[in-house]
Amino acid sequence: MSQSEEIKSKLDIVEIIREYVPVKAVGVNFQALCPFHNEKTPSFVISPEKQIWHCFGCGRGGDVFSFVMEKEGLGFMEALRLLASKAGVVLKNENPEAYSQRNRLLDILELAGKYYAYILTTPAGQNAKNYLLQRGLTEEIIAAWQLGVSPGPPTGGWGELYKFLKQRPLSGRKYTDEEIFSAGLIIKKERASETAAPGRSDYYDRFRDRIMFPIFDVNNNLIAFTARVSPEKEKTEKLGKYINSPQTAVYDKSRTLFALNKAKNAIREKDLAIVVEGQMDAISCHQHGFENTVASSGTALTVEQVTLLKRFTNNVALLFDMDDAGQLAADRGIKECLAQEVNLKIIVLSVGKDPDECLKNNPEDFKKAVVEAKPMLEYYFTKITAGLNLDEVADRRLAEEKMLAMLAAVNNHIERSYWLTRLNEEIGTNEKELREKLALLTAKKGPRNASAAAAPTEKTAPSAVRRPGREEKLAELLLALLIRFPEFINYGAGNLEPQYLSDPGFVRFYNQLIIYYNKSASLDYADFRLSLATDQAEDTKLLDKLILLGEKDFYSYESGQVKTEIINIISELKKYGKQKKIKKLQKQLQSAEASGRTEELNALMDELNVLTKE
Ligand code: UTP
Ligand code: MN
Repeated sequence: MSQSEEIKSKLDIVEIIREYVPVKAVGVNFQALCPFHNEKTPSFVISPEKQIWHCFGCGRGGDVFSFVMEKEGLGFMEALRLLASKAGVVLKNENPEAYSQRNRLLDILELAGKYYAYILTTPAGQNAKNYLLQRGLTEEIIAAWQLGVSPGPPTGGWGELYKFLKQRPLSGRKYTDEEIFSAGLIIKKERASETAAPGRSDYYDRFRDRIMFPIFDVNNNLIAFTARVSPEKEKTEKLGKYINSPQTAVYDKSRTLFALNKAKNAIREKDLAIVVEGQMDAISCHQHGFENTVASSGTALTVEQVTLLKRFTNNVALLFDMDDAGQLAADRGIKECLAQEVNLKIIVLSVGKDPDECLKNNPEDFKKAVVEAKPMLEYYFTKITAGLNLDEVADRRLAEEKMLAMLAAVNNHIERSYWLTRLNEEIGTNEKELREKLALLTAKKGPRNASAAAAPTEKTAPSAVRRPGREEKLAELLLALLIRFPEFINYGAGNLEPQYLSDPGFVRFYNQLIIYYNKSASLDYADFRLSLATDQAEDTKLLDKLILLGEKDFYSYESGQVKTEIINIISELKKYGKQKKIKKLQKQLQSAEASGRTEELNALMDELNVLTKE
């Protein structure tokens, strides 16, 4: 068994796909809303038995590897790495050259993470360790989150991690300066090289004497670090309390949420994601039993982060420091959430706005605040009206303006409608007028919001959603029927010439199917697949698709229904075929007429008459 087969055999494709979209059992298969294109009714089918998937909406399909490759935008080797860890398979590193650049970067980051965590256990890390303990973290938590410390002045040098990484590749050949640089761990000296003595490096460590928080992607790959200033330097450090890894080939800040790797299952179970700002806050929440917490790392939620969360839940509760309601709208990704129809709530802490502090001092208050989270629009409305005097015209106008601006981002019409009425009650204008104003605002913003919500991310954008015509669809249905009910193959074949199957790929497949069936007198799926595999990859893909289509559309058909269906499809296909022939004849007729070839003209007329009668 190859490693990829071993991995496949240990994984359940349904479970893997379930990490990205909710799936539902339908008959022997599972269905979902396609994660690769927008749809309202599920046309994405997974067969657990065959460990394949197919979307009848956008035409994508394949096995667990192709799913992860498409969904995560990975190459095969990277998907292999990801799925190997899920399957608990240790990859043999047979060919380090083929090991992709992305995997090399992940290796470097993993190694750096281990290094920083190790330093925390040494005397050089004692201060940092004490600080973390004093902030209330336990040894277990420190280990579980792989917290560490980066060596640096005054006690360490400027290139300790660099030196370490240069000595110890995790696998195969040594890491180059460029690779370590690309992982975001070192910085190039401004005046490097020429004057440098032999053995001296052109680079220095990006993170020095800081507490290191590794950032993992949703699949548990260490992809970046965020680094907190050491407590001694908190007042003097110029670079900032926290510095982060730069954008790299493996780290895209706008697509990452700190702690999501640890939180994803709890988010799904509780059907709620709590979003806080800080790393320490997220860790603290987990430690106090709110394991469905992620951190946005101090910035507004992006469209991509909201999309990421939507894989696990539709309910998001923001726990941000939001004193200024105006800021709230502009900065916190709330519009992104509203546009994507996420149910958004706001958690308001009564004492101490920092979740970490609140959890330490009043854990009960924190719990209460989570339970009492307010729907975002409710919160926002209360917040803006609280500061205003609605007896004053100017204030009423301000309330109207602010609320309408927010409602323009709301995609759900029921919610919009509700709030328009509420707003009208409060400020006592004319509801119809309000509605019109909102419509104007939406018309302006609408397309932007709609596209933000609908736009598939770059990596998942369907190259072109092909919409098969009716004729093509019929041919496909016929093949699906014959695959599902092979006893009808000769029945079909006896009544329909292969060339009626519009597409050359269908014709080829149909021919192979007939040949195979006549030779073996039965249809063994795996065996037939093998007989195809030696030929064209397209054909095996088509087979997977047809199997799922057959199970989806003809799951409970009885043989009488199958027969009727086949007869209907064949007769319709023939009609299409004839119509095409007629068109062709008419063209030939025209040209024969134009050039005065009377004999040919007569023959064509006869042929056309026969066909038209049929
Ligand atoms: P805070 O300033 O609220 O820090 O920034 P904190 O999380 O409470 O940190 P502690 O408790 O003092 O250790 C919130 C988040 O904003 C980002 C970090 O992700 C931080 O967790 N941030 C903050 C930066 O990226 N850079 C900074 O200089 C400050
Ligand atoms: Mn804090």
